[in-house]
Amino acid sequence: MESRIPDIDAPLRVPGDSASNRWEDLISLHPELESFVSSVGGTPLIQVPDEGGARIFAKCEWHNPCGSVKDRVALAMMAPVLRRHGARPLDDLWILEYSGGNLARAIAVVCEELNLRLRMIVHSGAPSSLLDALKDHGADVEQVLTGYGLLPAILRAVELARSDPRWTFLYQHRNTVNIDIHETTTGVEILDQLPADGRVSHWVASIGTGGTLIGVLRALRRRSATVVPVGVTPAELPYGTDEPPTGSEWYHGANGMGNGIRQPFVRPYDSEIQQATVSYPDALRGMNEFRRLTGIAIGGSAAANWIVAKHLGATLTEDEIVVTVFPDAGTDQEWQRLGW
Ligand SMILES: Cc1ncc(COP(=O)(O)O)c(C=O)c1O
Repeated sequence: MESRIPDIDAPLRVPGDSASNRWEDLISLHPELESFVSSVGGTPLIQVPDEGGARIFAKCEWHNPCGSVKDRVALAMMAPVLRRHGARPLDDLWILEYSGGNLARAIAVVCEELNLRLRMIVHSGAPSSLLDALKDHGADVEQVLTGYGLLPAILRAVELARSDPRWTFLYQHRNTVNIDIHETTTGVEILDQLPADGRVSHWVASIGTGGTLIGVLRALRRRSATVVPVGVTPAELPYGTDEPPTGSEWYHGANGMGNGIRQPFVRPYDSEIQQATVSYPDALRGMNEFRRLTGIAIGGSAAANWIVAKHLGATLTEDEIVVTVFPDAGTDQEWQRLGW
């Protein structure tokens, strides 16, 4: 196990272009995608319990077709690849990506619709439900060492992409459509859904790649140039930590990379982002509490965002607004563990 990713900044062909939330051309090229495409986005923004002070609004991303915010990113990363491939037969289009879970499901569904070859690199501790789902969708799943966060999976995918040019590597940590899609869809939807009164003072989001945090920030700054981004990562593996990952558990979907490595999308904003951390036990408690209060199931990263938003909101005034995101609704394993 290398302790660094020397390659994370090295030049690499990444098949991005500017994301578009107009998909008509894609659907006319591949009508099989219509049902997936038409059910991505347009998710509700709800007001959630606060602890006084600012009102808190959360974007509920489990309403996407595969149940998470990553459905947007899957579509956005696949679209330019498919557009560029055009009407040519798809048998030589090989898709390569790595994922902790949610993105993997969404990409696998898109690839299955088109009968595309997909290699998905996941960590060896991935739940069997994920592995079964990916295999059912026809993905070729490769597992790498667990306990070290996403780094070994990224490294393996980079290595494969470099050694065999037949793979089209989506590379979610470097592919800028991952930011653009959140600016043009998630962020624009939030702007349309927020109440007209109130000053948007903070935007709180868990950092996986940082695509959601940065993309939505760019959109929110059209309404309030001073909105402060708050990046949330697990206390067990915070953003930018110099420590290597320890192998302890953290809420899924978000994490620092360890070894002092900072996510490329987030790094340029380091001086303006407020960092917050939430431990896995606290995130689980937050899932429980939110479900008891509202009847709504939210995932660990959503609970972490809610906890940070609440604490922050309590320090603000009633005319201020904190916006956050609930990326998914949690896994069956977590809900079983919590006794639901
Ligand atoms: C549950 C969950 N929360 C948060 C995130 C973080 O999203 P991003 O990669 O946009 O930072 C992800 C990403 O996979 C996720 O699956």
